[in-house]
Parts: sequence; C-alpha cells; structure tokens
Amino acid sequence: MNLITQKKAFKLILVTGFIFFQLVSTALASSDLSGLSLIPKPVSVISAAGNFTLTTKSTIIISDQRTELKHIGTYLAGKLSPATGFGMAVKTSAEKQSAGNIYLSIGSKDNKLGDEGYQISIKGGLINLTANKPAGLFNGIQTLRQLFPAKIESSSPQAGPWQIPAGTIRDYPEYSYRGAMLDVARHFFQVNDVKRYIDLIAIYKLNVLHLHLSDDQGWRIEIKKWPKLTSIGGSSQVGGEKGGFYTQEQYSDIVKYAAERNILIIPEIDMPGHTNACLASYPELNCNGKATELYSGTEVGFTSLCTSKELTYQFISDVFGELAAITPGPYLHIGGDESHVTKLEDYIPFVNRVQEIVGKLGKKVIGWDEIALSTLRPNSCVQYWAKGENAALGVKQGAKVLMSPAANAYLDMKYDSTSLLGLFWAGFIEVDKSYNWDPATLVPGVSKENILGVEAPVWTETITNMKELEQMVFPRIIGIADLAWRSSTSGNWNEYKVRLGNQAERLKTLNINYYQSKLVPWK
Ligand code: ACM
Repeated sequence: MNLITQKKAFKLILVTGFIFFQLVSTALASSDLSGLSLIPKPVSVISAAGNFTLTTKSTIIISDQRTELKHIGTYLAGKLSPATGFGMAVKTSAEKQSAGNIYLSIGSKDNKLGDEGYQISIKGGLINLTANKPAGLFNGIQTLRQLFPAKIESSSPQAGPWQIPAGTIRDYPEYSYRGAMLDVARHFFQVNDVKRYIDLIAIYKLNVLHLHLSDDQGWRIEIKKWPKLTSIGGSSQVGGEKGGFYTQEQYSDIVKYAAERNILIIPEIDMPGHTNACLASYPELNCNGKATELYSGTEVGFTSLCTSKELTYQFISDVFGELAAITPGPYLHIGGDESHVTKLEDYIPFVNRVQEIVGKLGKKVIGWDEIALSTLRPNSCVQYWAKGENAALGVKQGAKVLMSPAANAYLDMKYDSTSLLGLFWAGFIEVDKSYNWDPATLVPGVSKENILGVEAPVWTETITNMKELEQMVFPRIIGIADLAWRSSTSGNWNEYKVRLGNQAERLKTLNINYYQSKLVPWK
C-alpha cells in the first residue's frame, strides 16, 4: 500500500468506526431503560429487551369509569397529543391488551407502593401503569413523560418516533409531603402564573403548594366578613406598584386545578407579626386603634396584631373560618415567624389560642419553627426554617417537622455573588448546596420518623414575575424534589448532576427560564 492508499484506508476505518459508535450509542440510549436520566430517581428500574412505540393508533385505556381515572387519562392524553399530533383517545375497556396502547389501572396489589407509588411495565409493545391510588397513577405519568424523548413536551407537532425501551419501573416516595411555597404577598402572582407554577412542580412529583397569602406588604385572599383586607390591604406590594388578590372563587379554582395535578394547597395567613396589610385595613385591630400606613418596603418584624384585644381572635376565627370552608386539605398555616415586636409572654398564649381556633375548624396547624415555643397541639406541625432548637423542641412536644432549612431550601437566596435577583441573608445557595443535604440528619433531635416532609419556599421581595421566579426556582427545586422522593441514603451530587444536565432539553422545550449553573453538565 502506498502512503496515499494507507491514509485513505485509515480515514475509512475512522469514519466506519465513528458511524458504528454512533449506531451503537443510539441503540444503547434507546434500548436501555435503566440508562435514562429520571428525576426524581425511581426506587428501581430494570431494563428488558424490546420497546414500546406510540403511534397514531395508540389509545389510553383506563381500568374503570371513575371520574378521577378519566381525569388522569385525559391529562395524559393532553400531555402526549400536542407534540405527537396523535388523537390519543381515552377509553374504558376490559378487552385483551394490545401493542401500542397505554393501560392505566388502580389495584396494584403491592402494598409497598402506598398511596403515591406506581409500577410501570413496558413489555410486549405496550405499557401497563398500575398504582393503588389515582395519586400513584399521576406520579407514574410524570415518569412516563420523562421516558419519551424531551420533545414530547413541545406544544406543536414534532417528528417521532416516540419510543420507550422495555423494562419495569417500581417506585414510591420517601416523604409523603413534598412541597413548594410561593410568597404571593410581597409580589402578587396572577391565577395563571400560579397554575403554571403548579404544572411545573407537578412534573417533578411535588404534591403540596403552600401559598403565603398575607404579609406586611399585601393581603391576597378575599375574606367576605372583612372586605377592606383586600380593598385596602390587597392594593399594595413591594416597590409600591399595584398589588392584587384572589377572590374566593379564584382561590377555589386554584385548589381544584392543583388537586387535579395531585397537589394540595395550604394557605398561610401569617400572624401575629407580618401583619401590616391588615393593620392598615382595620384600625381597630391595632392596640392604639389607629390604622398603619400601607407598606411597600422589605423590612421584617415590625408589626403585631393586638394580642390583648378580643376582636383580634374574632378576626382570626372569621378569616380561618372562611379559608377552612374553601380549603379541602387538612392544614391551615398560621405563620408565627419573626414576631419581633410581640412579647414572648403575649406570643405564647396567642399561638395557643390560634391553634385552638384552627382545631375547632377541623384543621391542623402548620407554623414556622417559632411556634414550638408555645404549647403545641398533638397534630400541629413545625416548619423548620431557621432554628434547629425550635424544631427539636417541637419534636419533644410530639409534633412533626416540615424541613425547609433556609441555608439549603430557600429558593430566593442568590446562587452566587453575581446573581441579579434574590437575597443572601441565609448565604449563597448554588445548585449543589440545595441538593446536598439530608432532611433526616440535618438537625440534631429531628430524625426521619419526626419528619412530615420537605418544602422549598420562595419569597418574592426581589422577584416580580414568572420569568424571574423560574430563574430562581429552576433548577434548584428539581433537586429538592429528588431528595424528597429518594431514599435518604441514595443522594449523590456527582450522580445527580448528570441526570439534571440531561433535563436541559426538556426544560427548554417547556420554556422554563432556568439558571444555567456552571456546576451542571448541561446537555
Ligand atoms: C421566614 O423566612 N421568615 C419564615
């Protein structure tokens, strides 16, 4: 062989090798279920030979006619139709199973799956998704979405094929409460924004949205017996722009929308501090009988309801009474944080009395960790954000703890010193820091059995719209969702960051304005 022929042969070998490598890696990528990057990471994924292909003939079959199943089937169709362009009919059928269809059924006979677990079997060209409860099917559907190519999230028709490699996924969560909190008081967010937020957190199997509905800067929920709360207290927000509020009808619409996405709404009315908006609306709620001015700054801890007035407790009963009537979930959040101008000897009986009011309404209390200083009712829950000793005190009283450590889980903290949005009083929180913590070992005196779950709050002093909210929340909330779902022993940043990097195309397709942290190998 002369030199030119040798070079040509070498080139041919290189090209052939490259093509072969491409073919093998494509085949591997689409033929190995356990190789897919899923978040949250399922408990077990076992690959098998073969695959499932969604086609124009594919149908979603639900096992019976109950409304919840129909909703879930229709929800899945709504997720698969736009990108595939397929009709995705939803039918009830006991017929023999056939390839290309997706079967959704309740009655898995696997107790370990609990209320929210599911099993997906991709075998013989069809998909069987089973669970004990509709919530489990809903979670399984979120996994299904991630099994398809990322362009499944597109809102316009894309080219297929829509294939999923064969195998079995068995999955259930570590914590039953996996939440996000949105502060709609510092800056108001419209109903459609809240709905988008619900849609986005549902993808990662979060199941609670806590709405921070009142603060010094604004009151955001209509209370029919106290209309000035919204006509006056709802009119302001941080920065002095016009605020806003939800009518009870709009709030109920949010609750319903959330429930259809396996998300429970927990409303918070913060008290006795963080109350300037109601003190500005009703002079009689102030100890001196004079209304305060509306406030659009960002200081905290300078207001208090008048704990010695009987009217205060009438007010609280009315507010929580109306809220309880439109909140099907078991919890009302009473705030209780940073009441710096309420004396401790007034704060303790106040919180005790508010717990009693909420208890009489048939609801359970959640409050920020300071409420552990009071005498907790057995079913009250302490939301740890700042002081570990408060959380431990709650545990000593038999309360459950919700884990929201500010230094890891506050998604309004800046990522680093270059972040334009956000605060940094709890430190910078890069994407690894919001992931690298274990709820069960973080606080001395608080262990796994004491923990209700995990919640990632976002406060909106510096966050004024959805684009800004998404920049602060994503991708950190995805990591919080992974750690709340996974078993405490399985968290590993180096493994997780690859899975997160592989979500990039999905996040882009969903038009999520996520922060492209340099710590993540984005694909
Ligand atoms: C809080 O961040 N003040 C609960």
